[in-house]
Amino acid sequence: MMDIWTKLQENHSAAEGRRIISLFDDPQRFDRFSVEADGLLLDFSKTSIDRAALDLLLELAEVRNVAGKRDAMFRGERINRSEDRAVLHTALRAGDDEPLVVDGEDARPGIRKTLQAMEDFADGIRSGRIATAGGGAFTDVVNIGIGGSDLGPVMAVRALSPYHNGPRCHFVSNVDGAQISDTLQKLDPRSTLVIIASKTFTTIETMTNAETAISWLKNALGSKAVSHLAAVSTALDKTAGMGISPERVFGFADWVGGRYSLWGPVGLPIMLAIGAAEFRNFLAGAWAMDTHFLTAPPDRNMPLLMGLVGIWHRNICRYPTRAILPYDQRLAKLPAYLQQLDMESNGKCVSNRGTTLERSSGPVVWGEAGTNGQHAFYQLLHQGTEIIPAEFLVASRSHEPSLREHHDLLKANCLAQSEALMLGRTLEQALEIAAALGYTGEERRVQAAYRTFPGNRPSMTLAYPLLTPYSLGQIIALYEHRVFVEGAIWGINSFDQWGVELGKELASALVPMIKGASSEGKDPSTIALIRKLSA
Ligand code: F6P
Repeated sequence: MMDIWTKLQENHSAAEGRRIISLFDDPQRFDRFSVEADGLLLDFSKTSIDRAALDLLLELAEVRNVAGKRDAMFRGERINRSEDRAVLHTALRAGDDEPLVVDGEDARPGIRKTLQAMEDFADGIRSGRIATAGGGAFTDVVNIGIGGSDLGPVMAVRALSPYHNGPRCHFVSNVDGAQISDTLQKLDPRSTLVIIASKTFTTIETMTNAETAISWLKNALGSKAVSHLAAVSTALDKTAGMGISPERVFGFADWVGGRYSLWGPVGLPIMLAIGAAEFRNFLAGAWAMDTHFLTAPPDRNMPLLMGLVGIWHRNICRYPTRAILPYDQRLAKLPAYLQQLDMESNGKCVSNRGTTLERSSGPVVWGEAGTNGQHAFYQLLHQGTEIIPAEFLVASRSHEPSLREHHDLLKANCLAQSEALMLGRTLEQALEIAAALGYTGEERRVQAAYRTFPGNRPSMTLAYPLLTPYSLGQIIALYEHRVFVEGAIWGINSFDQWGVELGKELASALVPMIKGASSEGKDPSTIALIRKLSA
């Protein structure tokens, strides 16, 4: 019997030359190739997937047991095989009270206790009840963390700026001293709270930045500096070593992956910015998406369908990248956030069983907020030699009702892009334009060639009512589960990240060489670069 991948490939080859627009001859095309869930609409009708391909993709999900793997994750099975851990970030936002047994213990009471501790702390800082060393209120918070201990909070704090009524939040991630220097020099240590966020509390960038920030606090506050510090980690023993008092430490379990951690203590800056009640709305949105993922039938299941579109584009159409294009300036950090979520999860060439993958896995994820991207790289999206599936995000309403004209323009631009990508412009149409511009003969043909758009380029659009804590929770959980679906189909462990280790090890070995120790044994390029950089 022909295997399902071959069938998909054959479907794709048989449709070669077919235009996406022709699929709309089916009057039910939009209804069948879009899905709504709790206010969110995902439209994937502007892709080359036809009914037969969609059926095959749904069959693929069944054959690869995506639902079974999903249920195992939610049950708390140790699906992160290489690290022998459960994967339960969903438990941090769970709206149910069912016991959740992990390692022989019900995890729910601990989750509730931590959330309560975060809320007490955040309320205390926001209200001024928890005061500075000098007895005043904290005006600024600096979160020191990197990767999953940074990108989620940065992205969400920016996204939710209309709800921001707490202290100002700043983020330092890079070990480049430029970032911490630029950040601290505009702040007053006497009214600044520093949060050191690191799951492992060993990450060199974070530990180095933490030491610099602690010295900055100590210079101004002496021994009282400790009252301006808080920490977020799974390694509570290590936080004590830094002198941070236990009631200022918010712990979480190792079954929360770094890039999935903004729902718990890593989300403390978000809670400080928007308050506990709105943070709970953020969790509720994510839980609503979890419930949808768990219960919606496959052909109406948004994360499943989004993942299957990803599989189609990556493995069948063989597109190497995907562009994330939020028409929402407050989601400007979403592409960077999704880069880690997606590429650290699914950028793997080894299967869950330790064998080399037979087919491509995660694509390159990149993007930029619209409309800025239009004036930068969309040229390539429309007329470049590579086809890049685009993923648009756009809200029906904005938080600026008095600036209606802006939002109407934003929406029109978003829709124009997906339309232009799909329809393109034929040579005949371009020839007419060139003629109208006064070109004749060979010059008319040349001018028309420049103005021709191949079109037939796929996109998806995710539409939401308004960017709120709730809808942001839905959107992030949707992408998390999409990554899960794709990883499940590829048969990889989406929850480890061994690929970042080698660089870390080599960097530690290079530090003494940068400082002047012998670089013997290194390759000639590295030796020459060390010499140049030490000059
Ligand atoms: O980049 C590797 C990584 O381990 C990420 O997975 C993680 O989010 C980041 O470093 C930061 O790790 P930590 O929170 O332990 O400092």
